[in-house]
Amino acid sequence: PRKIIIDTDPGQDDAVAILLALASPELEVLGLTCVAGNVPLSRTQRNARVVCELAGRSGVKVFAGCDRPLARPLVTAEHVHGKTGLDGADLPEQVMPLQEGHAVDFIIETARARDGITLVAIGPLTNIAAALRKAPDIAARIDEIVIMGGAYFEVGNITPAAEFNIFVDPEAAAIVFASGVRLTVMPLDVTHKVLTTRPRIEALRALGPVGEVVAAWTDFFERFDREKYGSDGAPLHDPCTIAWLIRPELFSGRQINVEIETQSPLTLGMTVADWWGVTDRPKNAFFVGSCDADGFYALLTERLGRL
Ligand code: BDR
Ligand code: CA
Repeated sequence: PRKIIIDTDPGQDDAVAILLALASPELEVLGLTCVAGNVPLSRTQRNARVVCELAGRSGVKVFAGCDRPLARPLVTAEHVHGKTGLDGADLPEQVMPLQEGHAVDFIIETARARDGITLVAIGPLTNIAAALRKAPDIAARIDEIVIMGGAYFEVGNITPAAEFNIFVDPEAAAIVFASGVRLTVMPLDVTHKVLTTRPRIEALRALGPVGEVVAAWTDFFERFDREKYGSDGAPLHDPCTIAWLIRPELFSGRQINVEIETQSPLTLGMTVADWWGVTDRPKNAFFVGSCDADGFYALLTERLGRL
């Protein structure tokens, strides 16, 4: 199996991504590294453990990482995810331990110890950038970083110009996009096609206890999109990264140049994506442009049914 570390700020959609990974034999989850993002670190590290226990996998290593972006105050997203980050389902307090040591050191030590790990980045990129900055040698040892972040046609969900994960820590994103590591990027353009419609969620709810929790989370998470935008469900952003690792044929995209705006107050955190190749800047990322949404939900339902 492919060896992955999931860097995460759970978040209901992060939680579904973690469950999908834990249910998939193609992947070996070496650990979860938590970062401040949707909610503060004190909650994301707890939520990650709640999710592992829900999956019956209390042996998974969970580390706490950076509690704020590299150069800016933290911006959170309780308006989407609720106060706990996992509002919608009442789950037992976690009992499995948090690992000692810092998430950044775990990433560095693991990348040095095992050639060819994959990092799955589904929160702000603070931990991963901090690891690359502290140990530049790991860039050559990491096989790939798969990122949920950014946008092209869909532009922004936290400002008119920026997607949340990139906006929260644009300096970190700039480090990762300049790192030379192979990057795959799942932008809002893709995740906004993967909507939690009623039939899709009822199929998950029918799976039993884990499916019922996932459905309760998405019921909460999507009220924001249904009420505010009249949309037919919410985008299930973060699980797209895991689906890409398991079933890449569900997605298509292009190898392009992507740069991160770190200066302009108006467009801070924008992913300036050269989709049409109008510059000769280096092609540093595989930017995914479309997804088979029905295929994605079929995969998710089949896998969560195994838990
Ligand atoms: C991203 O921001 C968070 O709210 C979600 O968990 C996802 O990682 C979407 O912009
Ligand atoms: Ca997330």
